[in-house]
Amino acid sequence: MSSHSWIAILDFGSQYSQLIARRIREQKVYCELLRYDTSAEELKKRNVSGVVLSGGPASVLEADSPMCDPAILELGVPVLGICYGQQMTAQLLGGTIEPGEGREYGSTRVTVRHAPPLFTNFPAEDVVWMSHGDQVAELPDGFRVLATSDSCPVAAMGNDKKRIYGLQFHPEVVHTPQGIEILRSFLFDVCECRGDWEMGQFVEEQVAAIRKQVGSDHVVCGLSGGVDSSVVAALIHKAIGTQLHCIFVDNGVLRAGEFEEVQHTFGEAFGMDLHAIDASDRFLDALAGVIEPEEKRKIIGSIFIDVFTDEARQFGDIKFLAQGTLYPDVIESVSPIGGPSATIKSHHNVGGLPDDLDFELIEPVRELFKDEVRALGRELGVPDHIIDRQPFPGPGLAVRVLGEVTRERVEILQQADLRVQEEMARLENYKDIWQSFAVLLPVQTVGVMGDCRTYEYVAALRVVDSIDAMTADWSRVPYDTLATISNRIINEVKGINRVVYDISSKPPATIEWE
Ligand code: XMP
Repeated sequence: MSSHSWIAILDFGSQYSQLIARRIREQKVYCELLRYDTSAEELKKRNVSGVVLSGGPASVLEADSPMCDPAILELGVPVLGICYGQQMTAQLLGGTIEPGEGREYGSTRVTVRHAPPLFTNFPAEDVVWMSHGDQVAELPDGFRVLATSDSCPVAAMGNDKKRIYGLQFHPEVVHTPQGIEILRSFLFDVCECRGDWEMGQFVEEQVAAIRKQVGSDHVVCGLSGGVDSSVVAALIHKAIGTQLHCIFVDNGVLRAGEFEEVQHTFGEAFGMDLHAIDASDRFLDALAGVIEPEEKRKIIGSIFIDVFTDEARQFGDIKFLAQGTLYPDVIESVSPIGGPSATIKSHHNVGGLPDDLDFELIEPVRELFKDEVRALGRELGVPDHIIDRQPFPGPGLAVRVLGEVTRERVEILQQADLRVQEEMARLENYKDIWQSFAVLLPVQTVGVMGDCRTYEYVAALRVVDSIDAMTADWSRVPYDTLATISNRIINEVKGINRVVYDISSKPPATIEWE
């Protein structure tokens, strides 16, 4: 760990903490998001190159607000406090803070008073994203004002001798267009980081950490065939090999060929101890007659837990459960002050396992964003067709077979879906498309094939562009592609004689039809 430069980000609960981490990693500097109360001693032991104190929702003026170990400010390593981090730094070093009622926040202009070292490559005056909150009224001894704005006299402060700096605004967000220059100056000029970190090092570090955490115990991991769980399984497998046991459940509503493909990739190619369980009858029997989407979800969720638990129990004494929780999952569950490790949200694929299983969690990608997980997967040799896979809902095709889910209808949809995937994958911009899939409608329409009248189902084609699935727009897929998909489905898939294209955006529609 200490063989290369690295930055510790102490997390005081800001929604931007991970973004800071991401910006730093984009500069090829390794960093870790750590609890706000990580001790100076630990950071020193690990030979930290610099410390960032994040923003957070608390106020240093309140009693019991979270504080870093004050000794961090005496370590002699560079420190950058952002927003709450700046106010805390000022207070700990003897400055004063005043409450921020009614003060500016959002986009505002700052003027730089002293450029080097932090603002060397930042314009003399520019727009930044100011945070809402208290601000520094009196500087601690030895500090000077580095930048100001109309209503914030200490928009940035610094003590070059101690290499301790503070910003009232957020350099990590896109609303501070030149903010990256400040971070770069901090990383490379102040902390003298090297900028040579690669994903391969993340693998090495995680492998070492997993080995240390697991020791001679065993880990169970639920594989879903999706990107996150696949990458986590590959990583843990690299670390502990046969001490990892993966469970993959066929719930009867997977995509065509997926059950075999996952077994092939992970069981055979990676050589993992993979327990592939065909529980499709159990799921489909329970789904018989069920039409209401949430009811479908509940049934699938609870049977999954039963099947997974039964299988995991057979392994005997397993201490750890691996999960592909990503940072966006973590953000939602972060308690404002506890730091990111305070609460853990269960991954939807393995949600709510019974207490008596009593697993400790291993979540090696909890600090990463999706594109970073993909990069990690590539590093680990996970095949592209898995890495580039679009999101697929936990309840699978059950929420795409509208109305009752029967084996026959699932098979019809699987075949239609397969054609959608094949044709969409030919598009040059396939990777920019968020999701593309077919939905089987519980509607039959009249058609003509040869000389015969047909009376078959309608498939809807859903293709959307999105950044985070919170909002989405229907993709302007080329007509030729739409035509090919429609032709192939109607000609090749028995049971469908009409294809329609969904041109609804989210909101007010949703991505899935159920
Ligand atoms: P909606 O339909 O709400 O979907 O616009 C947003 C994203 O979530 C996925 N989705 C699910 N994922 N379990 C999941 O794991 C579910 O029950 C579920 N429902 C929707 C959907 O595919 C889209 O990416």
